[in-house]
Amino acid sequence: MSGRLEGQSVVVTGGGSGIGAAAASRFAAEGASVAVVDRSGDAAAATANDITAAGGTSVAITADVSSLGDMERMAAEAVRRFGAIHGLFANAGITGVGDAMSLDVELWDRVIAINLTGVWLSNKAVLPHLLEAGGGSIVNQASVAGLVGIPGIAPYAAAKAGVIGLTRQIAVEFGNRQVRANALCPGTVPTPLVAATYAERAKQNIPTATGAMTAEEGMKNAVKRYPIGRLGTPEEIAAFALFLLSDEAGWITGGVFAADGGYTAV
Ligand SMILES: NC(=O)c1ccc[n+]([C@@H]2O[C@H](COP(=O)([O-])OP(=O)(O)OC[C@H]3O[C@@H](n4cnc5c(N)ncnc54)[C@H](O)[C@@H]3O)[C@@H](O)[C@H]2O)c1
Repeated sequence: MSGRLEGQSVVVTGGGSGIGAAAASRFAAEGASVAVVDRSGDAAAATANDITAAGGTSVAITADVSSLGDMERMAAEAVRRFGAIHGLFANAGITGVGDAMSLDVELWDRVIAINLTGVWLSNKAVLPHLLEAGGGSIVNQASVAGLVGIPGIAPYAAAKAGVIGLTRQIAVEFGNRQVRANALCPGTVPTPLVAATYAERAKQNIPTATGAMTAEEGMKNAVKRYPIGRLGTPEEIAAFALFLLSDEAGWITGGVFAADGGYTAV
């Protein structure tokens, strides 16, 4: 097998579902050994089993990105299994619904702990291993919500904007040691996270920008805001992450890239 990540070992956080699962499978199909990391052990195992069944190399690791101990154990386990780490897709995240006035501190703290601190902790734990390997690539999962305001998701948007700043820091702090870091900003990709966002909006009685309350109505309306005329797929986001991880993106670092069907161009 010859692929774009041949001989590389890559960690994917949140690899048990949605974009992370699609990415883990694609990276493995391109020749990478993939550590599928998720706080749900069953979900991580399901993705790892799919990869193995397709002839790829994978290990499932149950870990919470908001715990430094978990992230250090995860990185050590990936190195023990594969001998090194060359890439990280820091993708794990949760929804975060609430406007900046009504939102309670507990929810703010939880969303920041996973969606921002969790990205940092996975980067922090993996960086020493990238340096040991002579360099590597980090792709941090942000969102269009880190680039433009979207009503009703204040903690989520704040965390994603933070991910963009963190990614630039890593690019400038470690570039001279051949570590690249880029932030990916997807638009709406129907996944369990998006369904949870609409469900939570309905519970809190917060309509979307288009006035929708249900997931069905919300997604139907959301499509109209996308110049390309449809929502994204996990595979399309995985393909962009693959490019950024691969050597083809060797001169690309500190970048913030929307993969959003034109959403932020409007
Ligand atoms: N789907 C979208 O429209 C969209 C758009 C922009 C950005 N994103 C981002 O993409 C990433 C993946 O989202 P998705 O839509 O595939 O969601 P998803 O819910 O399908 O998958 C997220 C995965 O992360 C895992 N996870 C959650 N918290 C964790 C933690 N503390 N530690 C380890 N694993 C944890 C979950 O168990 C799940 O398997 C998220 O960071 C999300 O914010 C998604």
